[in-house]
Amino acid sequence: MKDYIIDITLSSTKKQKPQSDQLGFGRVFTDHMFMMDYTEGKGWHDPRIVPYQPITLDPAAMVFHYGQSVFEGLKSYLTKDERILLFRPERNMQRLNLSNDRLCIPQIDEKLVLAALKQLITIDRDWIPTAEGTSLYIRPFIISTEPYLGVSPSKSYRFMIILSPVGSYYKEGIHPVKIAVESEFVRAVLGGTGTAKTAGNYASSLKAQEEASEKGYSQVLWLDGLEKKYIEEVGSMNVFFKINGEVITPALNGSILEGVTRNSIIQLLEHWDIPVVERKISIDEIYQAYSNNLLEEAFGTGTAAVISPIGEFFWRDEKLVINNGQTGQLSKKLYDTLTGIQNGTEPDPFGWVVEVK
Ligand code: COI
Repeated sequence: MKDYIIDITLSSTKKQKPQSDQLGFGRVFTDHMFMMDYTEGKGWHDPRIVPYQPITLDPAAMVFHYGQSVFEGLKSYLTKDERILLFRPERNMQRLNLSNDRLCIPQIDEKLVLAALKQLITIDRDWIPTAEGTSLYIRPFIISTEPYLGVSPSKSYRFMIILSPVGSYYKEGIHPVKIAVESEFVRAVLGGTGTAKTAGNYASSLKAQEEASEKGYSQVLWLDGLEKKYIEEVGSMNVFFKINGEVITPALNGSILEGVTRNSIIQLLEHWDIPVVERKISIDEIYQAYSNNLLEEAFGTGTAAVISPIGEFFWRDEKLVINNGQTGQLSKKLYDTLTGIQNGTEPDPFGWVVEVK
């Protein structure tokens, strides 16, 4: 691989690390971060690793006003024999560039960013937690920085990568979550930004999320933006249903996020010869399957959440309790296998894992 020159300034102090068994999600950050800048006419420049620190931006920086911002989420693991592993990182870099394209942000050099990420993790390797269910969450992101109030693509950007040792995303951990079906608000519409990982998608999801949480539900199940009939995603995850022995997940339709975990689960199921289909699926069909006792399991998939079993849906004042609110066998097997591949304790027949050397 080409050698990239990345300037490195090490921190003179080291922060205290949290206890591995007391980690939540995304509140603690490591000692260093990666940055590079984009200027029109010059391209991306000055890739550098620096001590983790606040950044200064002009109050007119366009990201504050028009939300031109994209991000990714991936994870790193430390094996028992001290090897550092990443899970399918090239997919995240590709998706970052797809999001960039949708948000009119200049393309990044995926190989440079991956090389920088590897250096950053190597420097902060002591931060990778090892307790079961923990990992080092990696958040690459890009913001527009030009100080300008006109609505147009910014002429300058900053790319950053920050690292956070994490435990489980939901307080429930691997235990089933309760989900409210959202019938008023929508997450995305065809032609919108649903397939991009951009900040605005998450800002617009908060209202529904808050209302669901007041009723005791962890997340919402999003329906399509046109007919509010077809299932799209759940909270910040893709969603799968096991109905009468077959696993179904909504087909990528232009408004659903193309999850790396989603793709990995489909491949795992195919590998095990378990029938799996990507297709349009309506909430009515789920209800029918439930009424006929055919809805066996449901689970969300995502980098942050991994596999999150769903124990209950709330729809039209009715509770649909799945598998007695318990984690299903398939969800558990998928969780164990996927996390095993990710942390190096299970064989990786797909060549998904990349070692940081
Ligand atoms: C991830 O799964 O990495 C995500 O980006 C979801 C996030 C919004 C927590």
